[in-house]
Amino acid sequence: MAKVLKNLRFFIHTFGCQMNENDSERIAGILTRAGAQKSNGLEESEIIIINTCAVREKSEEKLYSYLGRLASLKVRKKVIIGVVGCVAQLYRLKLLEKKPFIDFVLGPDNYDKLPQILSDDLGEKFISTTWCRKWHEVPPEVILRENSVSAYVPIMEGCNNFCSYCIVPFTRGREKYRPLRNIIHEIRFLAKEGFKEIQLLGQNVNSYVDPETGKNFSTLLREVNRVDGIKWVRFITSHPKNLTFDIAQAMKETEKTCHQLHLPLQSGSSSVLKRMNREYTKEEFLEKVRFLREFMPEINLSTDIIVGFPGETEKEFRETLAILKEIRFANIFSFRYSPRPLTAASRVENDVPFEEKKRRLIEVQQLQKELQLGKHKTFIGQVMRALCMGKSKKDHQLFSGRNEGYQVVNFRSSKAQEKLIGQFVNVLITGCGPYSLYGEERDSC
Ligand code: 5AD
Ligand code: SF4
Repeated sequence: MAKVLKNLRFFIHTFGCQMNENDSERIAGILTRAGAQKSNGLEESEIIIINTCAVREKSEEKLYSYLGRLASLKVRKKVIIGVVGCVAQLYRLKLLEKKPFIDFVLGPDNYDKLPQILSDDLGEKFISTTWCRKWHEVPPEVILRENSVSAYVPIMEGCNNFCSYCIVPFTRGREKYRPLRNIIHEIRFLAKEGFKEIQLLGQNVNSYVDPETGKNFSTLLREVNRVDGIKWVRFITSHPKNLTFDIAQAMKETEKTCHQLHLPLQSGSSSVLKRMNREYTKEEFLEKVRFLREFMPEINLSTDIIVGFPGETEKEFRETLAILKEIRFANIFSFRYSPRPLTAASRVENDVPFEEKKRRLIEVQQLQKELQLGKHKTFIGQVMRALCMGKSKKDHQLFSGRNEGYQVVNFRSSKAQEKLIGQFVNVLITGCGPYSLYGEERDSC
């Protein structure tokens, strides 16, 4: 591969989900393979790439405020600025019209074009937001990963569901699946490199079908589990309607699959779920939780909740609070409904006032905080296994890890960090807050 970007340094700023984080790792790999070098910050870079998220209005606002900072940088310094990802796919030319200092705009299926674009004399602005039906592979040895213990491995992209609030089918396109043999090849490579945990990624992983053999998600899970060296396997995101007995069975029977699942509920009211086009009722969701817990009694469930969806009454909102109490998720991500362009819900009146949405969000978060704190207190005195990821960001005296249920476990240890990072550690839990557990290392395992 010609080193067309020799002597250029790049900086990538990533907004949004794990899929975007992984895309940025792949972009960093593509640029490095072409001769460029990753820099430590904006000031030291000749190329700046912003990988964007469009899922809520707030994510877009954050992008525009970041771009504001870059506008002044561009006045002072010769720098190429590119916007990639979901906002790029959505607004295309409009983005260049709004922010003329941007040099290129690339949608998620177009990152292989980067070396070519950047090696050309960027006198002309460049936009590419075409869709590609085939999976674009970046060889595993090229990808520049942020974490050396846990690796993201995408297995599918896009979504065919069209939930009425969601912009993803418009920014990521229809579902496409990565060939299973390439997934296994990447995971074998990661195992050899010493990675301990794999997180399989996709907007709707449960609908996976291998384009070459027709194998489904449960088979994929079984095959991924056979890769020596990898110790834990997780996956995100599952749509409740595609979460079958077969998948729960595969989770239970495969030794490395963590008993942890992110299962976005969105609302506890069947009438709201219908308006959201989620294709399950409250009762059906509860039934899935029942069989998951029957198969794996200690499973940790997390979820996403939207408050203030158009027409959500106080009574419907209370149903969400009630189901949170009933299910007792280990963790939730909760959001105020935000109308998005092109979506069905954006065409009906956004009639829950902002202040009311704010109140509902606070109420959900307050309730969940209490539930989590209550649950965490029950762990005090227990010894649990955690995979050490590094030093804690908040307190450098502490190490930080995750347990099988994906809870944050911060702990003290007298060992050097080289002896701990990437290792499984037994931690005696001695304290907790609503969002993390705290303890002391007993002995590595
Ligand atoms: N408004 C608020 N939250 C949203 N999400 C997706 N679209 C919207 C929107 N328009 C939330 C959902 C989804 C998570 C990734 O983001 O809860 O599961
Ligand atoms: Fe969006 Fe629904 Fe697809 Fe998830 S399943 S990405 S919420 S449309």
